Amino acid sequence: MNIHLVNKNIDEIQANLEVILMKKHKFLKVNNIFIHKKTMYVKIEKFKYYTITETLTNTIQHINKINKYKSIKISLYGTSNKKLQALIDGLTLGNYDFTKYQSKTIKLKLQNIFISHPNYKNYDLSYKKIKSKINKFILINKNINLVRDMINSVAQDTTPFEISNWIKKELKNTDIKCIIKNDEYIKNELSAFYDISKGSLNKPKLVHIKYSENKGYKKVVLIGKGVTFDTGGISLKPSEYMYDMRLDKAGAVTIFGIIKTINDLKLPIEIHAILGFSENMISNTAYKPGDVLKTRNGKTIEVMNTDAEGRVLLADLFIYAQDKIKKIDYIFDYATLTGSVSGAIGQYSAGLIGHNNKLKNKMIKLSKEVDEWYVDLPFNRYFLDNTYKSEIADFTNIPTSSIGGGTIMGGVFINNFVKQKYKKRWLHIDIACVSFIKNNWKYHQFGATGFGIKSSVNLIQKLV
Ligand code: BES
Ligand code: ZN
Ligand code: ZN
Repeated sequence: MNIHLVNKNIDEIQANLEVILMKKHKFLKVNNIFIHKKTMYVKIEKFKYYTITETLTNTIQHINKINKYKSIKISLYGTSNKKLQALIDGLTLGNYDFTKYQSKTIKLKLQNIFISHPNYKNYDLSYKKIKSKINKFILINKNINLVRDMINSVAQDTTPFEISNWIKKELKNTDIKCIIKNDEYIKNELSAFYDISKGSLNKPKLVHIKYSENKGYKKVVLIGKGVTFDTGGISLKPSEYMYDMRLDKAGAVTIFGIIKTINDLKLPIEIHAILGFSENMISNTAYKPGDVLKTRNGKTIEVMNTDAEGRVLLADLFIYAQDKIKKIDYIFDYATLTGSVSGAIGQYSAGLIGHNNKLKNKMIKLSKEVDEWYVDLPFNRYFLDNTYKSEIADFTNIPTSSIGGGTIMGGVFINNFVKQKYKKRWLHIDIACVSFIKNNWKYHQFGATGFGIKSSVNLIQKLV
């Protein structure tokens, strides 16, 4: 499906159907959508950006259900960034359907959407400017839909081997370098990361992606948890909490989406992604509660719960990244780390953790611009002391007493592996609940949301 901005009055554009959003119309008294001849009237409560997105999501889904029209046309409903984005989000993110595993899929007829830009005098932005903005939103949303596909794909199809190859394939014809390290390398270099996959026949992969290296730009490192399936290990998850654990690779896959988008937009910044793909399985070779794992810098972790595998993986990835990449300006990690994040802040936001209030506030503010939400979950010095004190090793992997605040505690653990000089340059982003939803929400349906790409790209481009 293609979207075109046409520099014409809507009456001059040829299409099978015209879509008109209206607050009131005699046809709309009974139904919210009404088709009369070649026009579809759609009721909209008010012309706010979020109502535009929601209304267009419903409209495009309705058009696909009818599946009769090859092309539609619609006018611009405002030229502010938010309203342009609302239009494109509704038409592209609202149009997403995950059908990979269905035997019968209907081929959609809709090929072209024409947006009319008649250059009215009261429109303050020129055709060229609006076109470039619209194209940028289309490009970002294409990557969001690809990331949604990757996260939604089931664990048997996205083993560490398969997902890392899929990522490499998507980056093939770009200037991005993608290096995949195999399990032998991981065993020698990041043995704690290696150990959490010991129960699985699907061996771990470490993926290092580089964009714009050595050009003298600011350097951002993104670290991602890519657990392709999380059974909980020997500390097995109950079935109702396990079946959707293919989502546990969302952090790493989201980072792929961020770096691909930054490349597509040709932003002047150096980005490194360090992604750890691993399967947390249960078997006679699995790591066990009570085991002590040795991280890359020699620090040891006593495993009190094999389901807290993400933080062990991240610990090694942090040490690796800080060893391999010099003079980092910013270091952010993305992870589906704690189920408790939804209890703390609900399922529509990500938890934002770090020592730098200014940076956190910047992320919160900039993400609102693109319709994503983060909630600041502050550290407290009492949390930072002794939470992970082990009797036999340097750390445990879960707090040794029940002090609550599980999501903050996840950040407290990772904090132990962030070098002092990078403390204020670090953000921990817990996307456990917002990355995968079970109900319809905005332009999302059941499954992966692709959350984090829009906001991170918006933040990163302003760090330049
Ligand atoms: N992958 C889970 C977190 C998760 C839960 C993500 C629900 C998405 C939805 C993670 O590995 C985990 O199991 N965390 C534990 C941590 C606990 C043992 C300290 C959790 O959240 O219960
Ligand atoms: Zn787990
Ligand atoms: Zn996990």
